[in-house]
Amino acid sequence: MSRAEVQLPVADAAAKIAERRADFPALHQEVNGCPLAYLDNAASAQQPLAVIDTIANYQRRDHANVHRGVHTLSQRATEAYEGSRDKLRDFIGAQSRSEIVLTSGTTESINLVAQSFVRPRAGAGDKILITYLEHHANIVPWQIVCEQTGAELTVAPIDDRGQVDLERLYAMMTEDVRMLAVGHVSNALGTINPVEDITAVARDRDIPVLIDGAQATPHMQVDVSDLGCDFYAFSGHKMFGPTGTGVLYGREALLEAMPPYQGGGDMILEVRFDKTTYNELPYKFEAGTPNIAGVVGLGAAVDYLGEVGMENIGAYEQELLAYMTRRLSEIDGIRLYGTAERKASVQSFLLDDIHPHDLGTIVDHKGVAVRSGHHCAMPVMQHFCIPGTLRASLAFYNNHADVDRLVEALLAAKALFA
Ligand code: ALA
Repeated sequence: MSRAEVQLPVADAAAKIAERRADFPALHQEVNGCPLAYLDNAASAQQPLAVIDTIANYQRRDHANVHRGVHTLSQRATEAYEGSRDKLRDFIGAQSRSEIVLTSGTTESINLVAQSFVRPRAGAGDKILITYLEHHANIVPWQIVCEQTGAELTVAPIDDRGQVDLERLYAMMTEDVRMLAVGHVSNALGTINPVEDITAVARDRDIPVLIDGAQATPHMQVDVSDLGCDFYAFSGHKMFGPTGTGVLYGREALLEAMPPYQGGGDMILEVRFDKTTYNELPYKFEAGTPNIAGVVGLGAAVDYLGEVGMENIGAYEQELLAYMTRRLSEIDGIRLYGTAERKASVQSFLLDDIHPHDLGTIVDHKGVAVRSGHHCAMPVMQHFCIPGTLRASLAFYNNHADVDRLVEALLAAKALFA
């Protein structure tokens, strides 16, 4: 992706982005007899033709295993796979391609850090620090490490707008903290955390920082060098690429010092029964045949995002989020959850006393796809003492008409329960 992309004035960006909707075949269908309004992008985003075609072409012509053959197809597959790594390096501003470990997604990336970085360094009396905003992928791997090591999981609170209490978080960054793991953007509430400031304070206190970027990379330019974090995890399928793909960025010196996460082919230089020598970075962390087609598709998604421009996406989505927030607020009986000052294009809400699953099913009958439930972030729901919410999450291919369709469907649901 070109980091020198040009930011267009907002009106021009909106016009250009509106044209991009045509690139996504899945958006142009009817569901339950109504045109689809796809508003579940935080769970998984749709893929543009550029990604779908790249994968199909790879499968038709170039498929073979990577790093293992001298024959032409293996060379082509390797070139495409490693080419994606270079694109991803550029996409997040990492210093070196050795710092880009290709994983199956954010969940695997965080588990890798938990097991290979934190587990050998943590013990009884140590702490792992997270926040109340985290989704399960940034909670459970740390609970497992705590069980394995005797370390304690500590959780910084949030306020009723869904913002991390920074004063408490900073107070909890004590010298016994072995890892701070914090989401860049909350999946359930959309809160954008001030990760630059949080990372700066943590680094000042020699606390390693992992940022869970699963919900950030589809919406904003991320630069790990500017952020100064030690690890950054994200998934391909939320940024218009295939499922089963993702990245762990790690500082080279840290990755170098970490033991492998899994053993198997490709992560070795030499295997003998008396001793195995591990491969160099990043391959030391990539055991077995990877999701080659998926990674090739993810490279195409990165190219595509580069063409659209992350700055343009951010500006467009902020306007659309403001529109959605205003339209939802106008509905009598709506309760919005997640009203932070800085937000990505996600809105959770409840309507009257209708259960979110009922509401989700009714709006689906009108062709509106939203997620209902706890959004893999049960502690967030516990904070608000609710079982779940309905969540509308926007991507740059959504428009005012999608939001209007959501509002109409909610009004219809309301009438049903009246
Ligand atoms: N974490 C994903 C979501 O927010 C699955 O829906």
